[in-house]
Amino acid sequence: MSHRIRHPGFAAKRQSAEQAAQFIRHGMTVGMSGFTGAGYPKAVPGALAQRITASHGAGEPFRIKVLTGASTAPELDGALARVDGIELRVPFQSDPELRSRINAGGLDYMDIHLGQLAEKVRYGFFGKIDVAVVEIAAIREDGLLVPSSSVGNNKTWLDMADAVILEVNRWQPDALDGMHDIYTDGALPPHRTPIPLAHPGDRIGSPYLEVPLDKVVAVVETDAPDRNSPFKAPDAASQAIAAHLLDFLRFEVRQGRIPANLLPIQSGVGNIANAFMQGLAESEFEGLTAFTEVIQDGMLELLISGKMELASATSFSLSPAGIERFLEHAEALRQRIILRQQGVSNHPELVRRLGCIALNGMLEADLYGNVNSTHQMGTGMMNGIGGSGDFARNAYLSVFMAPSTAKNGLISTLVPMVSHVDHTEHDVSVIVTDQGLADLRMLSPKQRARAILEHCVHPSFRPALEDYFARALAGSHGKHTPHLLPEALAWHERYLVTGSMLGPAAQEAHD
Ligand code: COA
Repeated sequence: MSHRIRHPGFAAKRQSAEQAAQFIRHGMTVGMSGFTGAGYPKAVPGALAQRITASHGAGEPFRIKVLTGASTAPELDGALARVDGIELRVPFQSDPELRSRINAGGLDYMDIHLGQLAEKVRYGFFGKIDVAVVEIAAIREDGLLVPSSSVGNNKTWLDMADAVILEVNRWQPDALDGMHDIYTDGALPPHRTPIPLAHPGDRIGSPYLEVPLDKVVAVVETDAPDRNSPFKAPDAASQAIAAHLLDFLRFEVRQGRIPANLLPIQSGVGNIANAFMQGLAESEFEGLTAFTEVIQDGMLELLISGKMELASATSFSLSPAGIERFLEHAEALRQRIILRQQGVSNHPELVRRLGCIALNGMLEADLYGNVNSTHQMGTGMMNGIGGSGDFARNAYLSVFMAPSTAKNGLISTLVPMVSHVDHTEHDVSVIVTDQGLADLRMLSPKQRARAILEHCVHPSFRPALEDYFARALAGSHGKHTPHLLPEALAWHERYLVTGSMLGPAAQEAHD
C-alpha cells in the first residue's frame, strides 16, 4: 500500500483514471471537488473528456451536469468544456474556455451563492447526485479521508452521491492533515439548530471526511499540482485603493466602532483584494483574523509574517509562487489555518455573528450604490457571484472595490445605472476606487450619489456623471431615486458601439 492509501479496503479499489471514468455516463449529475483552483480532481476529468470525444465521434450524445465547489482549472472545466461535455455547470467558474462557451450559449450555467449550493442539493432541488469525484490528500488506516487543499462541497458530494471516485493526490502536502474542520450540519428545516461557532478559530467538527467503503467505486492515485494564474503585481490604482481603505479602517478604529485588530476579514477573489492584503501587510494592523472563503497569496503572507493570527476559509487560491510559499511554511501554519466546507465558511448566520469586514471586487457600481460583480456590459458572464453575496448582505461592513476605470480608461466603473445587479444598494456600505472612498452608510439615495460623485469617479467621467445626476434630479419631481430611464444605460450602449464610454470631448482629451 502507498503511504497515502493506508486502508486495505480502499487500496483494493485502486484503478486507472480511464477505468474510473467508465462510471460516468451521459446525462449524469456529477459532484466534483475543487474551489478556486485548489483541490480539484486532476486525472478523471481528462479521461472523461477522452470518453466524451470518442462518444461524440461515434455520433452518440455525452454531456453531464457538473456541480463543483467553485472554479477549478483547465484540467477539469477547460477539458470538459473543450469537448462540449458539459450540459449544466454550477456554481462559480473562471476558466477562459468554459467562460467563452457559456457566453456563446453552448451550455447552461447557474450562478448560485456559494454558501447555498450544498443545502439546495440537500433539499433535493437538483435531483440526485449520480457520481462524486473528489480529490483528497490521503486515506488513513481507519478509512477516514484527509481532505485536500479545498473542502468546498465535498462533504455533500460524498454524502449524497450514489457512487464515489476518490483521487488521492500525493502532491498535496502531508501537513494538510489536521488543518480541516468538517462540520456535520445535521438536520434540514424545520429542525435546524444554530451552528456552534463563535470565533473564527473555533473547531466544531472533525478534521476528516468520511465515506462508506461500499459507495467507493474507484480510487485513483495522482501526483499533480494545483494550478492557478499569478496575481498581477499591485499597480498604482490598487495601491491607492488599499491606502484609502486603510485610512477608513483607522478612522473606524478611532471612532471605537471596530477593535484595533479589526474584525474578522473576508477578502474576495481577484487582484484588488489580493493587493489590499499586501497593503495590510505594510500597515500597523496586527493580531488580525480572517473568516473568509479563500486564502490568496496576500493573506498567506500576512499569516506567514504573523500579522494575521489565523484564517478560517474553505480553500486556498494561490499563484504558483504562493503555492511554493505555502509548501515552505505548511507545517508551521497547520494550527493557524482552518479549512471548512463552504456551507460553513460562507454561512450568513456566522458572517453576521462574527461581524465580518467583507472586502470584495466589483466590475461596476452605480450612482446609488448598486453593484455588478459578474456581467460585463450587462450580458457577458465574467466569473460569477461567488461568495460575495453570502458575505455582503450579512457583514458588519460590506466594502466593494475597483479601479475607477477599466480597459485603459475607456470604461468608467461608476455608471448612471449598473447593467446587472448582484448586490443591491441595501447591501453595500462602502465603495472604494483609486480616486477615493465613499462611505454610504446611513445615507439616502441622493446623498449616496453625491458621495460617490465626490469621492469615487475618475475625472474623465465625473462631469458627465454629474451632468446625468443633475438632469435626473431636475426631471425627477422629487422622486426618491432620480434616473433618466432612456439614458440610464447609454454609457454601456456607447461602449458596445464605439469601444468607449467617453463622450466625444472626453474621448478627444483621452486620445
Ligand atoms: N465592465 C466591463 N469589463 C470590466 C469592467 C467593467 N466595468 N471592469 C473590469 N472589467 C474587465 C477588466 O478589464 C478585465 O478584463 P480582461 O480580463 O479582459 O483584462 C476583467 O473585467 C476582470 O478585471 P480584473 O481587473 O482582472 O479584476 P479582478 O481580478 O480585480 O476581479 C472581479 C474583479 C469582479 C472579476 C472579481 O472580484 C470577481 O469575480 N468577483 C465576483 C466573485 C466574488 O466577489 N467572489 C468573492 C467572494 S469570497
